[in-house]
Amino acid sequence: MQDAFQQLAQGLIVALKTVSSESELEAVRVEFLGRKGKLAEAMAGLKDLGAEARRETGKAANEAKMAMERLFASAEDRVKSARLGRLAEAEWVDLSLPGTSPREGHLHIVSQTIIEVEQIFNRIGFTRHHVPEIDWDYYAFEALNMPQDHPARDNWETYFMDAPEGEKGKMVATPHPSNDQVRLMEKLEPPFKALYIGKAYRRQSDVSHVPIHHQFETECISHDATFSELKGVIEFFVHEYFGRERKVRLRPHHFRFTEPSFEIDISCAICGGAACRLCKEGWLELAGAGLTHPNVIRAGGLDPNEWRGFAFAFGVERVLMMREGIRLPDMRDLYKNDLRFLEQF
Ligand code: PHE
Repeated sequence: MQDAFQQLAQGLIVALKTVSSESELEAVRVEFLGRKGKLAEAMAGLKDLGAEARRETGKAANEAKMAMERLFASAEDRVKSARLGRLAEAEWVDLSLPGTSPREGHLHIVSQTIIEVEQIFNRIGFTRHHVPEIDWDYYAFEALNMPQDHPARDNWETYFMDAPEGEKGKMVATPHPSNDQVRLMEKLEPPFKALYIGKAYRRQSDVSHVPIHHQFETECISHDATFSELKGVIEFFVHEYFGRERKVRLRPHHFRFTEPSFEIDISCAICGGAACRLCKEGWLELAGAGLTHPNVIRAGGLDPNEWRGFAFAFGVERVLMMREGIRLPDMRDLYKNDLRFLEQF
């Protein structure tokens, strides 16, 4: 009987020798060490022995059992590390090779310009506010001294929303960020100096227009806002953004929401003001401006005898096109999403 256990251990050694996978290993385990395997069967035979022989053989049986378990465990280690070795061979990676980094993009030049403009105005105490892009007709026109059916509205070729009218009229895709003039007077405690940068939706598309362009606008409300202050702020911006050598000219104009009103020109960078093909007469038109009309102050809930204001707005795409060295022949190129174009900036 003792020999039988030794033979079992021998048999296990032989069986394990040829095992090379985990499934073969499992089959050998079931055959020898399983609940109904050869060892269990031999152990069951012990109960038929007499007490003396059972003690003797039992001892040998236990030793054989422990030996077999050790044999099995070491075969298991061998199979496992062989598998890992094969895996390492197959999935080998050279960690010392240089990696491939993803291509990095950058902000669109319009976004870069918006950030730069905001920084310039921050330096003289203007704080940025956010403008609704879809607003009531009231804020886009009526509160700006342009009653229903007023012909001045024609200058803003407006997109109306296909939505029910509300208390404040129809909804429009804002044709200019000036809708914030009265909104800010309603919201802020005067005096204040506000900057807002928003989209202007207009039915226009040609070399110097896109159907959605950006404008930055300022509104300054105080007891003593003056024309010279307005001009000073504009000059500050022009000198910071375009350079000290550019000159500013204010030309009389008409807006319903400012009185007096102006258009702002800067001297052309190409010819230095001598007149060339781009500017025709030495000046380039950039912005609209003026002192806030008393009716607009009133619409903002303030008393025009007590409060005065000024406002002006520049096109973002326009200023970036007019910057020295940019030489952009067609504004629509900005929005074609051609990487060869965009990567230049
Ligand atoms: N909102 C005007 C436009 O879109 C510009 C403007 C702003 C004019 C503020 C005067 C004051 O043309």
